[in-house]
Amino acid sequence: MSSSSKRGFGPSDGDAGVPTAPPESAPRRKVTVQTLAEKYHRGQPITVVTAYDYPSAVAVEEAGLDVILVGDSLGMVVLGYDSTLPVTMTDMLHHAQAVRRGAEHPLLIGDLPFLSYQADQAEAVRNAGRFLAEAGMDAVKLEGGTEIAPTAAAIVGAGIPVMGHIGLTPQHVRRMGGYKVQGKTAGEARALLAGARALAEAGCFSVVLESIPAEVASWITAELSIPTIGIGAGAGTSGQVLVFHDLLGYFDRFTPKFVKRYAHLHPTIVGALRDYKTDVETGGFPGAEHSVAMDPEERRQLGAFSRREHAPRH
Ligand code: KIV
Repeated sequence: MSSSSKRGFGPSDGDAGVPTAPPESAPRRKVTVQTLAEKYHRGQPITVVTAYDYPSAVAVEEAGLDVILVGDSLGMVVLGYDSTLPVTMTDMLHHAQAVRRGAEHPLLIGDLPFLSYQADQAEAVRNAGRFLAEAGMDAVKLEGGTEIAPTAAAIVGAGIPVMGHIGLTPQHVRRMGGYKVQGKTAGEARALLAGARALAEAGCFSVVLESIPAEVASWITAELSIPTIGIGAGAGTSGQVLVFHDLLGYFDRFTPKFVKRYAHLHPTIVGALRDYKTDVETGGFPGAEHSVAMDPEERRQLGAFSRREHAPRH
């Protein structure tokens, strides 16, 4: 007897009446930075998405993606700021903790917010450590190239895996003069490669390449021996990342050109809320199926209540 028929599950075969088992799949394992390195060396694309709360983390867990980035983009898509600059460590830890409760298997990366790592290396190590100690993250991400590589090395030195982020780095939006494509000239492209190399030498396990020409991203990817994760960087990177709210059409105010929308949740949500409002206003909700009836005997004893129940509500 096979182990599957011993367990006796699976749809029965109509002709023979013999139960068949579902295909055996390998048990799902926690994704680690080593898992990502193995995928990279096998040439398998790495899948990354942001998430900021418990239900989004549960959805990503069920969808089976490799990595969740608790990005400081939450400042814009969740908290309603017009940049990521006001986001604090307190905000990030609060959201990272919720994500941790919803996701067991993906690698979890906490995004170091503006001014949590730039001013002082010791403070950077402490803040990176808080993501692991207080929010159960597996790694952290920071923005910047050559200039931030020594800080990345200090964090890695404390045993904390670090993901780099170059190209369009939203924490530098004021210096860049807006959310602009980076690395468009040969000189800028060389500077990006130098930054990526410095991060790899600092011990980063991966680098995000944001909003750079596809050729430049492919070139950097070919020159590095760690995975690159692209966003607006073409198809030649080792993996891709998108912002949860962008890919689901959940945030309607602005969608970058490089985003592919896989759903349009915002109009669906607004439509559902309008239907609910109309139902409440017109008596369409709640119906009997959404209400709990009292035991008839208890109801009889509540004579006063019965006498009043047909009274107008207002
Ligand atoms: O904060 C974020 O979501 C990010 C990704 C866009 C890479 O940094």
